[in-house]
Amino acid sequence: MKIHSAQFISSVYRRDDFPQGGEPEIIFVGRSNVGKSSVINSLLKAPRLARTSSTPGRTQAINFYLINEAFYFVDLPGYGYAQAPETVRRSWQALCEAYLTNRPEIALGLLIVDARHEPKPLDVQMRDWLAHVGIPYAVLLTKADKLPGHDLARLAKSAAPVFPSVEVFPFSAVTRLGVEDVWRAIRARLDGSGNTH
Ligand code: GTP
Ligand code: MG
Repeated sequence: MKIHSAQFISSVYRRDDFPQGGEPEIIFVGRSNVGKSSVINSLLKAPRLARTSSTPGRTQAINFYLINEAFYFVDLPGYGYAQAPETVRRSWQALCEAYLTNRPEIALGLLIVDARHEPKPLDVQMRDWLAHVGIPYAVLLTKADKLPGHDLARLAKSAAPVFPSVEVFPFSAVTRLGVEDVWRAIRARLDGSGNTH
């Protein structure tokens, strides 16, 4: 997809503050520090748009980026960050639940898991959650550059039964592996919603 513009719009901490324009949203979910913000940056070829960090828990709000003035990329706070204070964790969870359960704008979920490990229980829980609320999703096995090719193929195969009947893409923000495949999946959903311009 040709990117004409990619703008940071807002960091939302309260459920009343979600954007109101009705544009379709592509959401990025996954464990803390798995590489969600890096996926956004590599899809947009904008290395510094979404803030990334080697410190887990960096993305603390729901961040909205407007792409081509037509659709949003939505960077959600990572789950499973054990060091976060309980009160902070609970408020993220409440905000994310409010967003995920009541947001018809969501056109596609991208569930991002670490290619180096089997999906964790919280990833499986997120899979079930997405299915439960009826959000179509695809899975990205990211940080694939850290694995030799044959290990990656093995892992992609072992992940497939965990994510039945959804697309699973090996991905790397470093080598850009998977970027075109993920754009294809995004475009297919946006075309479906008739809203790409
Ligand atoms: P939170 O917002 O804290 O939940 O993290 P996040 O999921 O947004 O992760 P982020 O994109 O900030 O990346 C976390 C760390 O992993 C950073 O040090 C990135 O440079 C690194 N990283 C992300 N993607 C890749 C990748 O594909 N390959 C490699 N080698 N490192 C990556
Ligand atoms: Mg982040």
